[in-house]
Amino acid sequence: MTQALFNNYNRRAIHLVKGEGTTVYDENGKAYLDFVAGIAVLTLGHTNPMLVNAMKEQSEKLWHVSNLFANPEQEKLAATLVENTHLAHGFFCNSGTEANEAAIKLARKHTGKHKMITFLHSFHGRTFGAMSATGQEKVHAGFGPIVETFEYVPFNDVQALEAAVDDETAAIMLEVVQGEGGVNPVSNEFAIAIQRICDEKGILLVVDEVQTGIARTGTKYAWEQTALKPDIVTLAKGLGGGFPIGAMLAKEALFDSFGPGTHGTTFGGNPMATHIAQTVVDYVFTDEFLADVQSKSTYFIQLLNEKLPALEVRGMGLLLGIESPLPVADVIQAAEDKGLLLVGAGESTIRLLPPLNVKRQEIERAVDILVSILG
Ligand SMILES: Cc1ncc(COP(=O)(O)O)c(C=O)c1O
Repeated sequence: MTQALFNNYNRRAIHLVKGEGTTVYDENGKAYLDFVAGIAVLTLGHTNPMLVNAMKEQSEKLWHVSNLFANPEQEKLAATLVENTHLAHGFFCNSGTEANEAAIKLARKHTGKHKMITFLHSFHGRTFGAMSATGQEKVHAGFGPIVETFEYVPFNDVQALEAAVDDETAAIMLEVVQGEGGVNPVSNEFAIAIQRICDEKGILLVVDEVQTGIARTGTKYAWEQTALKPDIVTLAKGLGGGFPIGAMLAKEALFDSFGPGTHGTTFGGNPMATHIAQTVVDYVFTDEFLADVQSKSTYFIQLLNEKLPALEVRGMGLLLGIESPLPVADVIQAAEDKGLLLVGAGESTIRLLPPLNVKRQEIERAVDILVSILG
């Protein structure tokens, strides 16, 4: 048989057929601890009963109506996402790349300018705008000419940023922790400088929270733990807990720049997606849940530092990275053989992204497997 699928992923050989919580099973019944979680998507693990119920409930009522009609579920979800923040409005789409596409369009439309600063090793998606915003040549390779209005500045380099901004700059766009690029957190000094530059020069600040948002870092949004006060925020991944949905949130001042006819999507924020996302967000946006993510993160980092003292551990919350002394692909394979699923980041980083409701014993087991490979 010829291969029916494009070959655009380096897929692993295992075929996963069932999941429960942090555990997934392959077709031969072998169990794995899933510390990939769909790449930071399965906020509440596999087949979470509350989400299964939410999906069943909505699937028997209404799946899709189109954005031509009033959608109170979207209103409610947008209100929940911006509650207790300085943000005011939301737009829903289906993925992170689409959320960033919306952010780029909104920033251009609002400012009337097109120059945007993004950072080396960033990742913002695969469509032309989001791909061009991504500061990695390998992502652009073969697709040129890309959208040539992005300037890529070294991350955490204040001087380079100051030299790059000018009166034509519409926006600066960054991830609080560069996820795909190697689990690189923004430094305090850099966050302060970005906010100062944006305030002084009237430049919009776009924070891509596609990977870091929705409690992944122990706060609702990762920017809350920094000096950043974004004008625009993008979300996807963990928002739907496994059901596809993306969102762009923005400050009041940007409301009029996205009037009727300016931007849209057929599927974005349909009743299925918004109902499931609302269930996720209502559950994770509580002080108790966020404190639990923070305390598990501290425990995880502590165990790794204790048992693998020679290795650097970076990240925030349950988006962690270990700088690997061995080839990342070998570590991923060895972990898979021992029943732990991992994903790489950047050139030499092992990324740890368990579901946010992972149990402490599961963290301990994962650390034991990591120690058996890296210790
Ligand atoms: C920070 C960030 N932005 C955007 C994206 C693109 O999201 P999606 O794959 O849902 O289009 C990703 C995906 O890895 C991401 O990590």
